[in-house]
Amino acid sequence: MQTSLYIDTKTLAWPSLGHTPTHHRLTPPNPTIKFRSTPTVSAVATASPPPLTRQKAHSLPPEKVELFKSLEGWAEQHVLPFLKPVDQCWQPSTFLPDSSLPEEEFLDQVRALRDRTGELPDEYFVALVGDMITEDALPTYQTMVNGLDGVKDETGSSPSAWARWNRSWTAEENRHGDLLRTYLYLSGRVDMLKIDRTVQHLIGAGMNPGTENNPYLGFVYTSFQERATFVSHGNTARLAKEGGDPVLARICGTIASDERRHEMAYAKIIEKLLEVDPTGAMVAIGDMMRKKITMPAHLMYDGEDPKIFEHFAAVAQRIGVYTADDYADILEFLIGRWNLEKLEGLAAEGARAQDFVCGLAPRIRRLQERADEQARKMAPQAVKFSWIFNKEVAL
Ligand SMILES: [Fe+2]
Ligand SMILES: [Fe+2]
Repeated sequence: MQTSLYIDTKTLAWPSLGHTPTHHRLTPPNPTIKFRSTPTVSAVATASPPPLTRQKAHSLPPEKVELFKSLEGWAEQHVLPFLKPVDQCWQPSTFLPDSSLPEEEFLDQVRALRDRTGELPDEYFVALVGDMITEDALPTYQTMVNGLDGVKDETGSSPSAWARWNRSWTAEENRHGDLLRTYLYLSGRVDMLKIDRTVQHLIGAGMNPGTENNPYLGFVYTSFQERATFVSHGNTARLAKEGGDPVLARICGTIASDERRHEMAYAKIIEKLLEVDPTGAMVAIGDMMRKKITMPAHLMYDGEDPKIFEHFAAVAQRIGVYTADDYADILEFLIGRWNLEKLEGLAAEGARAQDFVCGLAPRIRRLQERADEQARKMAPQAVKFSWIFNKEVAL
């Protein structure tokens, strides 16, 4: 799971609180690195999450809890196959210096890693650290999925297909944070103490995705989020390659392909819900898009910068790791994946949600253009990030 943008789809205006719009791009320290041309930073990436005081819980009616129980056999056949057997999975050690080698050889591998990462710009590390911290808050995501009514793991080792999915999905995800963390640690480019504190704060804070213990909402959220992480890790892979670290590029690309596989599993669940309960599923998609898909790490704090999440999201947007365009692209992708435009036989509520969702992406793009234009008129800003020894990075 990880990066996403906050878009105020209720008012369909980009929220203005707390953002730090800028437009001047930072010149990467290494002139050979070319960042994709992206829209300038604007409020889109940086609004506050939904207020924690308005949290709704257990909104799934009892008969629908039963529906999920009745779909266990289906999940066994159609969801569990998206997992990979452990012995066919990559492990963090696959990509890291081999500590079982004689000391000098091991140290040579560490030196090579540090040479490769030495040329990557600071702003790249801000985005990668933010992604890594997001991955590292995995206990929160397992808790969230396991809080969904009708699919939760009742015992901690329940044999139900839903519970097995959640445990094994978590186990696959666990490798992501581990690998990125160790690689970043060995690079020497980042302040691990500050990063560790951020992770501890974040896991302590939790998240507020607005999913109400409701698996309809929960699986819409995870479908979107897994695709968002696929996109974001894919972009950190591309930037690592352009910046001269092919190993880091392979690491991020490999993580991205896990995310893609997870996205396919979650999207399959929503596809099934659209088949058995089209109105219920369509309303859930509309509900999540109205609330906006908040980033799982939106409550992150490093103990120093109360807006660190907004600042990280702004850097990720500016260097093209995760942008407002990506958000709209993901929405359009899922509309196509679930064939939402052609969905028929919906009750009035479902038809309203369908209209809203199917018309949303172009509105997001238009609003983003407007926000970019406004941002261009404002003075550029830079912020110090504790994660990279308080060096300044343009937003
Ligand atoms: Fe994921
Ligand atoms: Fe992940």
